[in-house]
Amino acid sequence: MTQDELVKKIKQVEKKIEIKRKKNVIFRYNAGDVVHQKQMEFHRCLKRNRWVFGGNRSGKTECGAVEAVWRLRGIHPYRENKNNVFGWVVSPSFSVSRDVAQSKILHYLNPDWIEDVVMQQGKSSNPGGGVIDYILVKNVFGGVSKLGFKSSDQGRIKFQGTSLDFVWFDEEPPMDIYDECRMRVLDKKGDIFGTMTPLLGLTFVYNRIYLNDGGDNEIWHTFMEWADNPYLDKNEIEAFSFSMSEEALQSRRYGKFINNKGLVYSEFDENIHIIEPFNVPKEWYDNLSIDPGLNNPLSCHWYAVDGDGNIYVMAEHYEKGQTVDYHAGVIKSICDNLGWHRDSFGRVVALIDSAASQRTLAAEKSVVELFLDEDIQVNPKVDKNLFSGISRVKQYLKGANGHGKLYIFKTCINLIREIKSYWWGDGDIPKKKDDHALDELRYYIMSRPESFKPMVKLSMIEKDKRRLSRELIRKRRNSMNQL
Ligand SMILES: Nc1ncnc2c1ncn2[C@@H]1O[C@H](COP(=O)(O)OP(=O)(O)O)[C@@H](O)[C@H]1O
Ligand SMILES: [Mg+2]
Repeated sequence: MTQDELVKKIKQVEKKIEIKRKKNVIFRYNAGDVVHQKQMEFHRCLKRNRWVFGGNRSGKTECGAVEAVWRLRGIHPYRENKNNVFGWVVSPSFSVSRDVAQSKILHYLNPDWIEDVVMQQGKSSNPGGGVIDYILVKNVFGGVSKLGFKSSDQGRIKFQGTSLDFVWFDEEPPMDIYDECRMRVLDKKGDIFGTMTPLLGLTFVYNRIYLNDGGDNEIWHTFMEWADNPYLDKNEIEAFSFSMSEEALQSRRYGKFINNKGLVYSEFDENIHIIEPFNVPKEWYDNLSIDPGLNNPLSCHWYAVDGDGNIYVMAEHYEKGQTVDYHAGVIKSICDNLGWHRDSFGRVVALIDSAASQRTLAAEKSVVELFLDEDIQVNPKVDKNLFSGISRVKQYLKGANGHGKLYIFKTCINLIREIKSYWWGDGDIPKKKDDHALDELRYYIMSRPESFKPMVKLSMIEKDKRRLSRELIRKRRNSMNQL
């Protein structure tokens, strides 16, 4: 073969590969100009327990299916790939599995990669029309991977005994099945991912995944809404929104967890209000605020304010069962680390719950006095009015112009958890659960000016219009009086 012929041959082969590639839908996934960024964020995250909470049609199942196919085939672009991968996809029922997860897997799985399909119901000649039990996939390392299709309504027993590399939950599983599946991935150091619309209220997923009440560093979540899905038709979005109540939209569109009573700080948005820590200029350092507790945690945060009145919650001390001198020690050392200012007597200054000035029968000194002994000058003259406090915090979360003025460093995990789990209870009072950090946040925010009264500058035309309508009303009233 001559040099020319060889080049020609190589070109032909390349072309064939290219055509094959184009036919292969998985290679087109988020590879063009239009990219679903939130899906890619999910794929890039290397944690072992990842969840996508999203509205219907926001793109959750799509990314779950691609994640699974990448893993089975051994072509995940961001993770270490393995041979002979064994995974499960768990759906609420077999019919949902067939219509949703299974159909997306078949969509993204190149037929050439399928070694075998074993059906549970229906014929393997037409797998899409029946319920698949498992699919065997040719892995690029030469082995064979296996994906089992499971249904939560089979009950936990059916989930016992196997060692898995991954489990994908499409829609929320019951807790016993989730726990069983966690056992299944232990041996192989596998991982779990879930894609779901939270429609069941405040279940274990809310507590264990979203709030991450166990503080598990391997747990990760993101939210997806319609606007994040660039493949969704604008008309489709409008038609959806039109037919839904605000409440339904919260879960169906935004994938937010709801219960009947609603969240107190429903304005709180993780994407806006939680920020990466940065070096705050010392001129912005403002005040500390403390909610003391003995059996309950003592909560203390460090607050800074910039020239535009934006508040930054920069640091956190949150601990229970400790004495005042212990807390004072920690607070002073955090102050030292931050280079926090002292008063002219070298004392740290802070706001504190006014109850701290009371002396209990058992104690000789009040909490205020105990802090003063430790060189912390706490000021108990705080505004404790619950309603004005909550409404001012809400103002700071979402002002008249829709922008927030309250930013929390992501390291303040207890404050963030409390905000996310603060629900209205009976009688329009928040449920008393964990509100230690929230109380102290309110005292601080009440010490700040009201966030922003909208300063509307009216145009001449608008002023004219308003004057005319006032006149019109006056004239009408006069003529009514004359009748
Ligand atoms: N990366 C993507 N590429 C192409 N289309 C997508 C992508 N992500 C989502 N879609 C489109 O959006 C639709 C809804 O996505 P899907 O994952 O089924 O939503 P969900 O599971 O959140 O209800 C899909 O049917 C598909 O048409
Ligand atoms: Mg789905």
